[in-house]
Amino acid sequence: MAQVLPGAGAPAYVRGMTRIIQIVSVLLVLLIGGAWGAAWFGRGPGESVSDAFLRSIARLTGGDMPAPSAGGIQLAQGVSLGGPFTLVDHTGRTVTDRDFAGRPLLVYFGFTYCPDVCPTELGTIAAALDAMGPAGERVTPILVTIDPERDTPAALADYVSRFHPRMIGLTGSAEQVAAAARAYRVYYARVRPRDSTDYLMDHSSFIYFVGPDGRVRSLFRPETTPEAIAAAITSQLRAL
Ligand code: NI
Repeated sequence: MAQVLPGAGAPAYVRGMTRIIQIVSVLLVLLIGGAWGAAWFGRGPGESVSDAFLRSIARLTGGDMPAPSAGGIQLAQGVSLGGPFTLVDHTGRTVTDRDFAGRPLLVYFGFTYCPDVCPTELGTIAAALDAMGPAGERVTPILVTIDPERDTPAALADYVSRFHPRMIGLTGSAEQVAAAARAYRVYYARVRPRDSTDYLMDHSSFIYFVGPDGRVRSLFRPETTPEAIAAAITSQLRAL
């Protein structure tokens, strides 16, 4: 009996399958390459190629993403951030998302030992609320720690009061914090600098604007100015 070898001697259906796989591969490469190309040429002012790429992929997969609003990133339709959580506030009281229902929030995930980024972003939140005037009083600023081991309710109480009189600090068990961070797609990891005995937390740094329904309406990149955040939120509050 003749042995079946791939190539010319292979049965027709094997050659057919190979051809289909080749065509599909080429089409996939063209599709992804095309999306990157479109992202490169079609990106908006100030938009990175990867953001534009995600936007074009979202369009291809049916999830259309509206153009980013002033200072804020709109979420793709079908992408949901936020949701239920159970944490402990800076007075030691257990709170859930239901305690904040009906209130627009500005939420930031960080930690009190952060040397630079967290204090800057929390200062930005406070400045944005001040810049909004009376409308800013509708919005509750919240810091959720991603370092619950060191950020006890007492440590948070002292820390948040330095930024804004109405700022709420939230902590909890490692599991509670992990669940809340997961709901907001927050990345965090413990890192130890070489010449230090103390650890630091590496973490993603977005300011989330949360609607009265507990869902994230928009998020702001690090270094967005307080004025841009204030303008974006003022217009979104009018639409609520
Ligand atoms: Ni930080």
